[in-house]
Amino acid sequence: MKRTKLLMGVLGVTALSLGLIGVGLGGHHDNLSREARIGLSIAPVTLNLRGKNRELVGLGSYIVNAQGGCNDCHNNGTQYLPGGNPFLGQPKQINTAGYLQGGAVVFGVIAPPIVPELGTTPPLPAGRTYRQFVQEMRHGINPDDGHILQVMPWPDFQDMTEQDMRAIYEYLSALPAIPPAP
Ligand code: HEC
Repeated sequence: MKRTKLLMGVLGVTALSLGLIGVGLGGHHDNLSREARIGLSIAPVTLNLRGKNRELVGLGSYIVNAQGGCNDCHNNGTQYLPGGNPFLGQPKQINTAGYLQGGAVVFGVIAPPIVPELGTTPPLPAGRTYRQFVQEMRHGINPDDGHILQVMPWPDFQDMTEQDMRAIYEYLSALPAIPPAP
């Protein structure tokens, strides 16, 4: 009898500590991939996660910010804040006011905004539907006039998985929207 009680006590404490460890590790990021967790922590602007899939948003941020270098080109002409330029040996501080908002001239071409564009409900990244976005990312085809994007590294991006494409689009959809370029 005594032994059973002892055993139950030990089991109880073990279960409790396993539970606590679980909460500590998972927190409110339960079940997110490593990439998604990193992605959510490095997104430079506040995300609108309402109705969005956190795993996809996080993975998308990871691809956009840690792999794809999208803001190297799609910034507004000032990628880093004064005093925050890593190329000058300064600690990185992204110019969030111009993040992915377009305007920078890259190899003679103006990089367009890829944040959501106000005007539709919900606002769409670069004003493109998911279908059009994938056309551009996989085939470099501009849906307006069919021309082939000349600077955008779509020949590299085209081989990403469908899940990665979805993730990038979901992440871009979670960024603050701006009015369309005049
Ligand atoms: C080397 C610079 C560069 C990088 C890196 C880059 N882009 Fe681009 N992107 C451009 C330029 C410039 C254009 C304009 C079209 C062109 O290439 O002529 C463009 C066009 C686009 C378009 C079409 C926008 C529209 O208005 O239809 C999308 C979408 C896009 N880029 C998404 C991305 C994403 C997502 C990433 C990162 C995964 C990325 N780009 C990385 C330079 C770049």
